Amino acid sequence: MAIVELRQVSKRYPGAEQLAVDDFNLVTKDGEFIVLVGPSGCGKTTTMRMIAGLDRHTHGQILINGRDVSGVPAKDRDIAMVFQSYALYPHMTVRENMGFSLRLKRYGKTDISKRVNETAAILGIEKLLDRRPKDLSGGQQQRVALGRAIVRQPQVFLMDEPLSNLDAKLRVDMRAEIVKLHHQLGVTTFYVTHDQIEAMTMGQRIAVMRDGVIQQLDPPNSLYKKPVNVFVAGFIGTPSMNFLAAIVDGNRVSGKGFSLLLDDAKHSAIGERAEVLVGIRPEHLHSATAGALDLKFTGAIEVVEPVGSFTMIQVRVGDTVLTAQIGSSEPAKIGDPVVLTCQSNQIYLFDPRTDLALSGIDGQSETH
Ligand SMILES: Nc1ncnc2c1ncn2[C@@H]1O[C@H](COP(=O)(O)OP(=O)(O)O)[C@@H](O)[C@H]1O
Ligand SMILES: [Mg+2]
Repeated sequence: MAIVELRQVSKRYPGAEQLAVDDFNLVTKDGEFIVLVGPSGCGKTTTMRMIAGLDRHTHGQILINGRDVSGVPAKDRDIAMVFQSYALYPHMTVRENMGFSLRLKRYGKTDISKRVNETAAILGIEKLLDRRPKDLSGGQQQRVALGRAIVRQPQVFLMDEPLSNLDAKLRVDMRAEIVKLHHQLGVTTFYVTHDQIEAMTMGQRIAVMRDGVIQQLDPPNSLYKKPVNVFVAGFIGTPSMNFLAAIVDGNRVSGKGFSLLLDDAKHSAIGERAEVLVGIRPEHLHSATAGALDLKFTGAIEVVEPVGSFTMIQVRVGDTVLTAQIGSSEPAKIGDPVVLTCQSNQIYLFDPRTDLALSGIDGQSETH
């Protein structure tokens, strides 16, 4: 088990103008499950490769249990990686694939066999041990790839989009399985994904990255309730948060087609600003009958997407389109007029000039 620390770690690839990773700071707890999430090209893989020792960082320090491992080659870092491509050896059986790294380390036959069998039992792949990779499904291959990492009993697991090649159903199953495994083994893990649902469901803490920079490092619930900026607010949550430009007049903010009274906490969070960006998550918008509501949006339905347990609608309000999640039994047809409302304490506020959050839905955002 291990505590991994990245101190002001940066990486510039030779000839590149921009840093691929820029001032990355993170200290894990022992046995923590950390997720790195962000759009393609934001520096997730580069960060993992630096922790693994496959790429050298240009600046900063990487420590494992307090020891600077900068000069330590990958093979001596006691870290096991699982990649998107399973990279199993095609000519070896599952048993040989799983035992290979132990053989390199000159473990005895009995030891290897014992560890491989134990790991196979954990993963439920005992019956596959004598097959070759070509005779396995994608999900089985991914399990073997995990097994190859687990069998080494490393201090740290690095998993870089390990489920991306699996179909949607299998991905959901495997993600639960990896969480269970982590619970069982308690090994410090870095898990990379570009899928925010995977990040939210798996991570104890999640680092949301953009252009090489950590935007926010927090548990899932904080990312959802108190995103630090517009990027994180739009990235976490599906479908994305709705954003509406508004002007401030005392404790009232108004935009095209809507106006709402702020409570004291939100009002004081705005300070002297004359303009704000209002954020509302689709799941917080409800259809309502027009009446004495303070906050309401009146528009026409443009898109209807029944999902089963609920229905997603897109509603044109003036020159913006709002996404809302309504009950599956509520009637909704393209062209229907609709009134949407939202509780005023479920409104997020941002500064349109800096994109920084002024208020989350549990009150004021911490400034990071
Ligand atoms: N070997 C490399 N040489 C030069 N640039 C690279 C190399 N690998 C990645 N990059 C660049 O570094 C940035 C981060 O890439 P990467 O870490 O692979 O992102 P992610 O895994 O989040 O998609 C990107 O702009 C990418 O083009
Ligand atoms: Mg990558």
